[in-house]
Amino acid sequence: MLEVKNLMVFFENALAINDLSLEVHQGEIVGVLGSNSAGKTTLMNTLSGLIIDMKKKEDRRGGERITVLGEIRYEGQEITLIEPYERVKRGIVLSRERHPIFPDSSVEENLKIASVLRKDQEIRKGMDFVYQIFSHLKEIRKRKAGFCSGGEQQMLSIGMALMTKPRLLLMDEPLLGLSPILQKDLIRATKQIRKEGVTILVTEQFARPLLPAIDRGYVIENGVLILFGTGRELMENPEVKAAYFGV
Ligand SMILES: Nc1ncnc2c1ncn2[C@@H]1O[C@H](COP(=O)(O)OP(=O)(O)OP(=O)(O)O)[C@@H](O)[C@H]1O
Ligand SMILES: [Mg+2]
Repeated sequence: MLEVKNLMVFFENALAINDLSLEVHQGEIVGVLGSNSAGKTTLMNTLSGLIIDMKKKEDRRGGERITVLGEIRYEGQEITLIEPYERVKRGIVLSRERHPIFPDSSVEENLKIASVLRKDQEIRKGMDFVYQIFSHLKEIRKRKAGFCSGGEQQMLSIGMALMTKPRLLLMDEPLLGLSPILQKDLIRATKQIRKEGVTILVTEQFARPLLPAIDRGYVIENGVLILFGTGRELMENPEVKAAYFGV
């Protein structure tokens, strides 16, 4: 479904992604693991096309030069340089790390705002889907998003991504800052989203909660691919154990 070949992303002369290749097959949950500054967010921004917006903005104001090299193919077509909204239309949707939501609007209004591309009857359907995955969001649907906890905002961010009917959902560090219980809930929700036919690529800094849930994973460091394998292979890998499980 998604093929990344020899991807390089530079900020000025600094290399954030270095010759990275990876694949996501339809129906999979694939993880990208890496510590701080490994390049997780840069990868997600590049796959979702946000980097194209960033690049344009920087070019306009004569700021830092952002360069993207290599190839991203989605369902057989090259998408490396196409606009983010065009990718959303094709089903590639990013739930961002610490996503800016609309704090003065309610949970439900935020979900509606996220679905501007969709028709009215589809909005209802999308909302039912989100409430089915995250029943807690239904309970707090009237609450102002700004008054929601970190975990609730994270659910809302993913819910907003789901409102655009993704076929490939990109999640950047969804577990960040969540309690172990909420992490478990979110992992459960992730599996349920996949069951509904959505393919998932998820980044994470901490492997422990994520590894058991993924089909395959890639470990990156300083933008370079270090290791890849099935979730089980990675869990049993001595380097991964040492780096992420402290054994
Ligand atoms: N806009 C930018 N300008 C310059 N350098 C950047 C920019 N964004 C990211 N970088 C650099 O690219 C590298 C990768 O950063 P990135 O944010 O992708 O890592 P990350 O894995 O998401 O880290 P974190 O765990 O902190 O979220 C880092 O060295 C970072 O300093
Ligand atoms: Mg990041």
